[in-house]
Parts: sequence; structure tokens; C-alpha cells
Amino acid sequence: MDWGMKNRTSKVIRPRDGRCVMLAVDHGYFLGPTEGLEVPSKTIRPLLSYADSLMVTRGVLRTSVNPSTDVPIVLRVSGGSSIVGEDLSNEIITNSVEDAIRLNAICLALSIFVGSKYEHQTLSSLAKLVDEGEKYGIPILAVTAVGKEMSRDARYLSLACRVAAELGAHVVKTYYCENFEKVVEGCPLPIIIAGGKKLSKESDVLELAYNAIRKGASGVDMGRNIWQSDCPVAMIKALRAIVHKDSDVKEAHDILLKEKNRESNSIKL
Ligand code: 5RP
Repeated sequence: MDWGMKNRTSKVIRPRDGRCVMLAVDHGYFLGPTEGLEVPSKTIRPLLSYADSLMVTRGVLRTSVNPSTDVPIVLRVSGGSSIVGEDLSNEIITNSVEDAIRLNAICLALSIFVGSKYEHQTLSSLAKLVDEGEKYGIPILAVTAVGKEMSRDARYLSLACRVAAELGAHVVKTYYCENFEKVVEGCPLPIIIAGGKKLSKESDVLELAYNAIRKGASGVDMGRNIWQSDCPVAMIKALRAIVHKDSDVKEAHDILLKEKNRESNSIKL
């Protein structure tokens, strides 16, 4: 691995502890102005300083993130279908690597839809993007997207993560599942986990992150369970404690409650 690739990868997975808290705000590329992300700049601004990196599309980056930020940018470069379209898995590469470099991206993210109608297309895109990334020393984050008809179990997620690794991705994002350690065992890359749809209990989000880390995940790449929470800053702080300080669920929950109290007191003042 050359210096540039190593340097950029170290901004995704921090070498200090081998972990990462990536804030995902790329959802609009297929969901439109989804709840909590209607005005991306408003969602991103208070959370940015607590994120190790920001996962975003170029449109939101250009319009809604201050270019003086020192938070590393993970650029989503796949898309082409929306939630109301024919098939979400029909994705292509939506960005040139040259434009990603102009935007100072340190990593490029692309979804693969293993087992879907467009499996071959999305896997070919991954292989092509890896080649482009290698040319310029930019790591690739493979997002193991799960189609409506596919189950998020260890068997399927192990397959998708391993395929991503074999095709040359540098980091994989997947979902937490029962027997998650099997997914980790079968994938020679760092794995980070998405949060998925908003869970009703905050403690369930913390438990999900805690279990994933305990079973070998390198961190989280979370969106909805942070910015759809009623106290997004408290949630990201609590998640940071789990990921970077090895806090347990109770410790992290205490951090969340303390931050919530602090915020509600400062509103009253
Ligand atoms: C959308 C994505 C999201 O970034 C990913 O799913 C993480 O967000 P969430 O925690 O809301 O699931 O890749 O395709």
C-alpha cells in the first residue's frame, strides 16, 4: 500500500485505536428529503465536530458543508435509483474520481447489491472503482446494501462482505446481525456498521453498537439513529464513548442522559 492510500485510510479508521465514528448523511441520494435530513446543513452543523468522518454525496457536500472543515470526507459515488423507482439496486458510479479528488475526498463509498437483479452491475462498478482508487491512492468503502427481498442474516452478510473484500475494497459497511462474529471472521477488512431504520429505544441503538464492537466491528457509520433521535448530539457522544472508550451500554446511556439534561437546561436559561 502506498503512502497516500495509507494516509487516507488512517483518516477512515483511526490508527490510535483502530476504530471509527463515521456520520452518514448520504440518504437523500435515494430517499430525498427524508425526516431529520430535510435541510442537510442544519442536521450536519451541530454534529460535525463529533464525527471522525462524514459520509456524504457531492451535492450535499458542495451546498451544505463548510469547506473549511477538517473532518475527512467519505464521498458516496454510487446511485441512480430512487425509493419510488423500479429497482433500488440499479446503481451506477455517479462521480468521476477526478471530481472526488477536487472535493478532497479521503474515501469513496459505493453500494453493492449481492443477490439482486443488478448484482453483476454493482460488483463490476466496485471492481472498476477499486482500480480507479488504486491509481490515486484512495480507499474504497463497499456498502453491502440489502434489497427488500433479502434477509440481513450472518450467512447473507458474510457473503456480501467477503465478495467486497475479494474484489479489493478497503473497508466494508454492513449491518449488525445475530452471529455477527461470523461476518467479521470471514472478512479480512475492517467492518463498520450502519444503524438502519430508527430504533424506538435509545438504549437499543447503544446496545447494537456495543455488541457490534464487542464482536469485532471497527466502528459505526450511522445516520438515522443519530439525526432522527430527539437529541442527536447526545446520541453521537454516547456512541463515541462505546467506539473509542470501550464504554458499556450503561456508561454510554449515562453520557446520553447527561448531555440531554445539559441541553435542556441551556434551553431554559
Ligand atoms: C444509505 C447508506 C447509509 O449511509 C447507511 O445505511 C447508514 O445510515 P443508517 O445508519 O441510517 O442506516 O449507505 O444507503
